[in-house]
Amino acid sequence: MERIILDVDTGLDDAVALFLAAGLKEITIEAIIATAGNVGLDKTLENTLNIAETSGLTCPVYAGSSGPLVRTPVEAGDFHGESGLDGPLFEERVRQHVAPTSGIDAMIALVMDNPHEITIVSVGPLTDLAVAFIREPRIAEYAKRFVIMGGSFSRGNVTDEAEFNTYADPEAAKIVFASGAQIALFSLDCTRTVTLSPQRLESFRQRGGRSNEVFVACMDTYTANYTKRGQGEPQMHDPLCVAYLADPSKVAGSYAGVDVITEEGPSYGRTVKTDSEQKVFIAESIDIPWFWSLVERALSSLP
Ligand code: BDR
Ligand code: CA
Repeated sequence: MERIILDVDTGLDDAVALFLAAGLKEITIEAIIATAGNVGLDKTLENTLNIAETSGLTCPVYAGSSGPLVRTPVEAGDFHGESGLDGPLFEERVRQHVAPTSGIDAMIALVMDNPHEITIVSVGPLTDLAVAFIREPRIAEYAKRFVIMGGSFSRGNVTDEAEFNTYADPEAAKIVFASGAQIALFSLDCTRTVTLSPQRLESFRQRGGRSNEVFVACMDTYTANYTKRGQGEPQMHDPLCVAYLADPSKVAGSYAGVDVITEEGPSYGRTVKTDSEQKVFIAESIDIPWFWSLVERALSSLP
């Protein structure tokens, strides 16, 4: 059983990561932290609360950072819509509300109180993690591991060279990759390979349940936004991090040091491999049919 903290900037594919984590018996979500990223913090928090409520989750949902450490904020509304979660409609929530304390402090406390037990999954900009490392460097050692969606070792998706999550806070990402923590990284080179076909989306549409209905509404928007931008089928970035925890043997990869370029210029926010002794597991491929069977299983077990 994996006990996780999910740090999200919900986000249409973040929503899939949340559904997956909520629905898999292999995973227990101890806390969710919403951070600014795809859209501003007020919106990512609202979206996160709505998905948590839909999934029947009762774990606390915290607010994280409202913006990057140093750079001016950038958003990704082109892919996720103006709200960050365009598509599904939600009724007034009865169960979920914003927890009254800081998400970053809650992360530190959970990790320090449960040594080597808690996995942190981060699928937005790395601001919250960087701040946590600055406040309590021992979380690098006390957390079980970190699973991160970010970076690209080929072309980017927000600039020619940079991926959105690292570009949205490169200075934070640099701190995280230098922390000495045990990290598994899902870069675009892996996440781009998993896309949702129209046929598969139709097969989900035939299934029942409120969570499935919200998933389909999210994926309709995600598909339309990829089509509008001439980018093919929508890419399942964030949920791969959660799937990995259900069975790491379904993911192949290699080890290297990772750094982030923070000098101004065309490479700003780019991830690069280094020969640092701090090795990161870089995912390269995942068993795609198995991944979709997990999504189906998770959605079937949710309200
Ligand atoms: C990442 O950027 C966001 O828009 C997605 O949610 C994902 O986390 C992909 O580059
Ligand atoms: Ca995300």
